[in-house]
Amino acid sequence: MTLQQVPEKVQKQINMLRETINQHNYQYYVLDDPNIPDSEYDRLLRELIDIETEFPKLVIPNSPTQRVGATPLSEFGEIKHTVPMLSLSNAFNDEEMQAFNKRINERLETDVVMYSAETKLDGLAVSIRYENAVLKTAATRGDGYSGENITHNIRTIQSIPLNLIGDNIPELLEIRGEVFMTHKGFEELNNKQREKDGKLFANPRNAAAGSLRQLDPKITAQRSLSFFAYGIGDYKGDIEFTSHTQILEQLKQWGIPVSPETKELKNLNSCLNYYKDIGERRASLAYEIDGVVFKVNDLLQQQAMGFVSRAPRWAIAYKFPPIEEITRVLDIEVQVGRTGAITPVARLEPVFVGGVTITNATLHNLDEVLRKDVRIGDWVYIRRAGDVIPEVVSVIKEKRGDVTEFKMPEVCPVCNSTVERQEGEATYRCMGGLSCAAQNIQAIIHFISRKAMDIDGLGEKIVVQLTEAGLVNTVDELYSLTKEQVASLERMGEKSADNLIEALDKSRETTLDRFIYSLGIREVGEATARSLAQHFKELELIETASIEKLEQISDIGPVAAHNIHSFFQEPHNIKIIEILKKNIHWPVVEENESTTLDGMTFVITGTLSTMGRTEARQKLMALGAKVSGSVSKKTTYVVYGDSPGSKYEKAVQLGVKTLTEQEMLELL
Ligand code: IVH
Repeated sequence: MTLQQVPEKVQKQINMLRETINQHNYQYYVLDDPNIPDSEYDRLLRELIDIETEFPKLVIPNSPTQRVGATPLSEFGEIKHTVPMLSLSNAFNDEEMQAFNKRINERLETDVVMYSAETKLDGLAVSIRYENAVLKTAATRGDGYSGENITHNIRTIQSIPLNLIGDNIPELLEIRGEVFMTHKGFEELNNKQREKDGKLFANPRNAAAGSLRQLDPKITAQRSLSFFAYGIGDYKGDIEFTSHTQILEQLKQWGIPVSPETKELKNLNSCLNYYKDIGERRASLAYEIDGVVFKVNDLLQQQAMGFVSRAPRWAIAYKFPPIEEITRVLDIEVQVGRTGAITPVARLEPVFVGGVTITNATLHNLDEVLRKDVRIGDWVYIRRAGDVIPEVVSVIKEKRGDVTEFKMPEVCPVCNSTVERQEGEATYRCMGGLSCAAQNIQAIIHFISRKAMDIDGLGEKIVVQLTEAGLVNTVDELYSLTKEQVASLERMGEKSADNLIEALDKSRETTLDRFIYSLGIREVGEATARSLAQHFKELELIETASIEKLEQISDIGPVAAHNIHSFFQEPHNIKIIEILKKNIHWPVVEENESTTLDGMTFVITGTLSTMGRTEARQKLMALGAKVSGSVSKKTTYVVYGDSPGSKYEKAVQLGVKTLTEQEMLELL
């Protein structure tokens, strides 16, 4: 299709979508006040992607869909900073702050100085250049005079706008700020790294740096990076700035995120209070900071102060004390996580670190215990960074006396199931699966998920409520829930309770492969579950299959075979499966059965003549189809019998294909 043929309506819709998405980004990242649910945002983005896929000529580089476009670089280019990127002088105590304030008072010949008080984010300084509202280039600080061209990576950071919004947009604007990783992003990244035995990052700063200095922007895009601006470099525009806080306020108006902790303060005392206040709240901030920054707010006064070597005389970073302390390991115990991972935890002699008393620190896994050579009785350095779980940094070997080595337990301390470590994995896991209380919430969430038992209306929140209320401890107990029990949960109406029970009932008919998949056996995804069902045809045969037999199946390797075998050996699991078998049914897996309806969604409406709707549903599902109760654009076919209802009309309206009963039978 050529540009001329693109209907005006489409261009208008695209413009509207881009504008709406940018506006929502602004609400979310700058104002921290989203006004639509994530699902609605995803829907808008999806719609834009769909239209842009259909009309590729309408794609522009700064469309919100184009954050990861570039192909990997072979090396970073260089960008010169037209206005140098300076650093800050430091203060480490109140006296040094007093000296800083005194210098300013003297030079400006006044006792009254307004300061901009900010947090000192612990990340990487970057400079981002906008020309006529459009993000053009971005660079690291480098030596302050030139840095690396990281434009392609900066574009993947969701909170950095690709286009400025608002009024009085300058011809040229260079924003200076910090790219950082939140504690949550850091934890998630390290967990992922741990799972694939990749390199662990020591702290969020290193993780942010490592993520930003990737030649492949696709990798950066997967890392959760954030950004706050703290100033500007080069600037050509109509607005004449008179103060630093005015600049920050204006950046916000243009859609650039600025730290919400920034304050305008008068004189030294309020600055010292700010330092104290932020220090107390440091641990509960979502990101790491290593101090606070004070800047003379008035720009003319800044000019009057000038610079000393490579730092301004009008600003200072007041650093926080370190967050490492020394204490003693009283014991090493293990904790069982939601995925069965067994984590060694050091029990410590209580110690005050970074504002709170610490009594435990994680040791991650056995390899870490051995690598750091931590033993019970050792003196160790403990590090606590914000909300991050405190960790043992290193052992003070010189202080070692009478110590005991840690041994990984052979059985799970929660459920007594065996503990195993898989080849190539650092983590030991409890093999209790469904039966281990520490794992059950996760197991239930997997069990009810769309590709497993597909229980509509039972989300993660309700699962947590059900387990907390003691109503459901293991997946089998879902099927003995009564409407009254469900309705007794907080924020649960009669109608929702009815719907949930109905959804649970509906899930009682399924297919063998879905059932196997829903058990959540490690390494058994949908495809493996299907192979198992196809090969063995009966659950009992899978339950009793030897490792050798399992390994004979084409896509089952030794690890999966071992997991399947151990899973069905576990007495707790056997008990739960017995109860499930009484509640859940599936049709016999037929010979030559193929899975040609994989990925298709069917809706059945009206009365069928050769079979009931339940049977039709089972037959379709046995071939890999999903059968849904409502028609949407995603529906593949609507099968209609006699006196079809409104679902048929909706299908016609949405242009969804319809099938007669006969046509469905042919397809089957
Ligand atoms: S102002 C001319 N403000 O600290 C002053 N820097 O040691 C330039 N930093 O390279 C910096 N938070 O990476 C400033 N609110 C803040 C900051 C901040 C973190 C970092 C920045 C800079 C380093 C200076």
